[in-house]
Amino acid sequence: MKKIAILTGGGDAPGLNSAIRAVVKKSSQLGWQVLAVRDGWAGLLDGKLSELLPESVEDIEMEGGTILGTSRTNPYKKEKGTERVKENLKKSGIDVLIAIGGEDTLGVAHKLTEEGVRIVAIPKTIDNDISETDYSIGFDTAVTRAAEGVGNLHTTAKSHGRTLVVEIMGRHAGWITLHAGLAGGAHMILIPEVPFSIDEVAKVVDERREKGKFYSILAVSEGAKPGEEEKFLIQTEELDSFGHVRLGGIAKVLAKEIEKRTGAETRAVILGHLQRSGLPTAFDRVMGTRLGICAVELAEKEDYGKMVCVRGAEISSVGIGVAVGKLKTVSPELYEMARIFFG
Ligand code: F6P
Repeated sequence: MKKIAILTGGGDAPGLNSAIRAVVKKSSQLGWQVLAVRDGWAGLLDGKLSELLPESVEDIEMEGGTILGTSRTNPYKKEKGTERVKENLKKSGIDVLIAIGGEDTLGVAHKLTEEGVRIVAIPKTIDNDISETDYSIGFDTAVTRAAEGVGNLHTTAKSHGRTLVVEIMGRHAGWITLHAGLAGGAHMILIPEVPFSIDEVAKVVDERREKGKFYSILAVSEGAKPGEEEKFLIQTEELDSFGHVRLGGIAKVLAKEIEKRTGAETRAVILGHLQRSGLPTAFDRVMGTRLGICAVELAEKEDYGKMVCVRGAEISSVGIGVAVGKLKTVSPELYEMARIFFG
């Protein structure tokens, strides 16, 4: 009988509970025991592990968030962090750890793998920016929420003749913004991969007004950046334990600048954590399930140090080290395609 520990780290994402349920159900079928780690790596620093029975995962696939709790704790930034993680895994007799997370959580998983910890990883982030996988748990739900937001804003923007700058999550990659902008009929899309010029943004608004369209909806990634000459707009704030700036604010800055340049009333709308909230879409539930099952299958084969991944319609796996260290970003070609719909 194997003993598996499971944790979710980083921002929560709808679909995580499906993966947890799948890990527990498949493990129970194999006669294995699953231990829940509370709050990501924090739970392994404190040794907070408790048994997760199949009964306790009944129906959780329909819930958003993560029943395990999560945090942005980095054990490599804590005093004797990795020693404590390893000690607690050993104390609980864990054979393999299933770590579900994004770039940061998987970065830690990779380093621990190199130190001999047996880990299988599952990709999760609404940003969908993990390399070596076409899909990460949570993306479809986030796009669905954001697209609904962008789409719904048309009626109020039109009624008041306003420009609305909609800020969408995505620190380093514009996947959610691109998809939500296209699906929700945005008149311009700004993403971190392509620096923008405020004059160009203002031009789109002006040209629409000249055509008698007195409203505009602009979909903007929270990590979108202006070109060199407008760098003064970027905000500096405190960093989290993985060294990330807490973003949120580009829409307000842009709204002010657009209003100044066009004279059109412009407001900022920050979709924020609504994008990670609520029920997971059926797609995320199924993806979470398939990835969770595959993770246990890898553990069964003792094929450690791997991240399960999605390639086209298939689930496969790749070394965790191959997936971390570089992000999957929006290609210039895809952004060019989106430009057809600007204005
Ligand atoms: O990584 C997922 C994500 O939702 C990003 O899109 C966003 O920048 C960040 O998490 C927000 O994190 P937090 O909820 O910790 O503020």
